Amino acid sequence: MFKATAVAPANLAFVKYWGKIDPRINLPCNNSISVNLSEAFTTTTVEFDPSYQNDEVVSVNATEKASTKFSARVSAHLNRIRSIANVSFKARVTTENSFPSGVGIASSASGFAALTLAAIGALGLELSNNQISAIARLGSGSACRSIPDGFVEWIAGKDNDTSYAITLAPPNHWRINIVSVVVSQITKKTSSTDGHSLAPMSPFFEKRLDTIEKRLELVRNSIRDKDFQQFGRELEKEAISMHAIAMTSPIETIDGWISGCYYWLPDTLELMLAAQNWRTNGLNTFFTLDAGPTVHFICQDDDLTNLLSNIDILKNKYPLREWRIMINQPSLGARLIPTK
Ligand code: PMV
Repeated sequence: MFKATAVAPANLAFVKYWGKIDPRINLPCNNSISVNLSEAFTTTTVEFDPSYQNDEVVSVNATEKASTKFSARVSAHLNRIRSIANVSFKARVTTENSFPSGVGIASSASGFAALTLAAIGALGLELSNNQISAIARLGSGSACRSIPDGFVEWIAGKDNDTSYAITLAPPNHWRINIVSVVVSQITKKTSSTDGHSLAPMSPFFEKRLDTIEKRLELVRNSIRDKDFQQFGRELEKEAISMHAIAMTSPIETIDGWISGCYYWLPDTLELMLAAQNWRTNGLNTFFTLDAGPTVHFICQDDDLTNLLSNIDILKNKYPLREWRIMINQPSLGARLIPTK
């Protein structure tokens, strides 16, 4: 009876969320802009039942260790939704990703967006999209951007109720391709949660925040006008700006002190430099990077074949390179689907 299924996409940020004003409620220091990804999504079914003794989470893709940690986060998130509905029923949650973990696309955004919508649907709560997005944010910050459709802006807001994401343009507004090149599947040393908390340690953090309003405006306008050159330049500069903060945020780790966190690997840098050459030779592509070594290239349809063959040439330079490539286009946000 209290059962619903939701599907939600992962998203890729063009203007990054890096640094939190209040980590307890994932309140970000700045607005961010992203796009939902068509091929990377999570499907989650939530069934509340008064007879269940405990929450049970079946995560089809997770390893055993990840499952235990994930289950605790899922229960904590369900508690938030239970308290809104004023119920105490435990739930059975089944969740499956369309994409493997370790491909450089975080499943926490799609996972917490799908969980939020399925739980809200199962309990029959009548909430606005902004409210659903704000609740998803509590599970994982960037999950709030996986609720609305297409090209999305997360309004940083001032408190719990005013921090949520809205659609800037629907997915069919602009057909761009996001080609993600996964150069390594080794787990990164510094999680994005740690990266957020270390960001203000960088001497350049305030400067980044001073310039972010202008960048948000340029990215917003370039999406509206489908101005690929301005869009690409801004998103590439933005990725480097975020990484400059990470690289200049010193950390005391269990292995000792390090002067900053490098998410790049040599292959990452090779791809970034290659993009500069490709552009000189007429290939219209720009890249962005999240808190990991995966390089996400953006291009329009006319350049896709050329981009893929250039990536292939680099990949085949060394026979042992096990790069994985994923191609996405803009997609809808989270939605309820019929429950099996
Ligand atoms: O939502 P989190 O805590 O995984 O942080 C996401 C951080 C970045 O992916 C690097 C940037 C972003 O805006 O998605």
